[in-house]
Amino acid sequence: MRQPFIAGNWKMNLDRASSVALVVQLAELVAESSGEVEIGVCPPACYLEAVGSVVIGSEIGLGAQNMYHEESGAFTGELSAAMLLDLGCKYVILGHSERRQLFGETDASINEKLKAALAAGLTPIVCVGETLEEREFGQTESIVETQFEGSFSGIEEVDMLKCVIAYEPVWAIGTGKVATPDQAEAVHAHLRKVMTNQYNSEIAEQIRIQYGGSVKPGNAEELLSQKNVDGALVGGASLKADDFAAIIAAAKSSK
Ligand code: PGA
Repeated sequence: MRQPFIAGNWKMNLDRASSVALVVQLAELVAESSGEVEIGVCPPACYLEAVGSVVIGSEIGLGAQNMYHEESGAFTGELSAAMLLDLGCKYVILGHSERRQLFGETDASINEKLKAALAAGLTPIVCVGETLEEREFGQTESIVETQFEGSFSGIEEVDMLKCVIAYEPVWAIGTGKVATPDQAEAVHAHLRKVMTNQYNSEIAEQIRIQYGGSVKPGNAEELLSQKNVDGALVGGASLKADDFAAIIAAAKSSK
């Protein structure tokens, strides 16, 4: 049984006071979730410490939205995996489509980050997903397969087991256009097949694959009840404590 994992990606939103207020409210709402659902929040890096001081000892884990693969040195503006750990992070999102599209991240650079995150003991959430054009050309499966193979190149079985994958169709992110449960399930099942080929079925069955892209309280239950959908990476709806808590509740009732 894969434990559902709901993570909130706050992106470049909120300020210090509203970040703390949001997580305080969320901590109250999920206080009784008793470990059935794994919960994470990924605030902007500058608020990791403030948010971390609220979630410490709670059901909510702290995550970062990005990192750099080097350990230290002349890399202006970057943060290392060790720095994120030092701030109390458990998770790091890697290869989000916004980072791929706006900041030039490639499967190769994501692979370097993934190796550094694993070496430091962070749980990586590695994002894959096709654009609308790629979907219309029937390339969805080959695109996510290529992204998976490139991002996870050289990752040993023991390390693979520590990873989480997020399938996020680019056309569904922040657009209100959610993938249908069938569309999500088909890609998740395909990714599991790819992992079976690359590793083995035992490993493939254990890895959690989150869906991301316009997940809301109103569509969460149907998406999360799909066999191969093991949670959600939530953007917009994670900025409202009630909505995010409702998605967590949907994860609980859908399994
Ligand atoms: P969204 O973002 O829920 O606002 O569509 C999801 C994501 O980018 O992780």
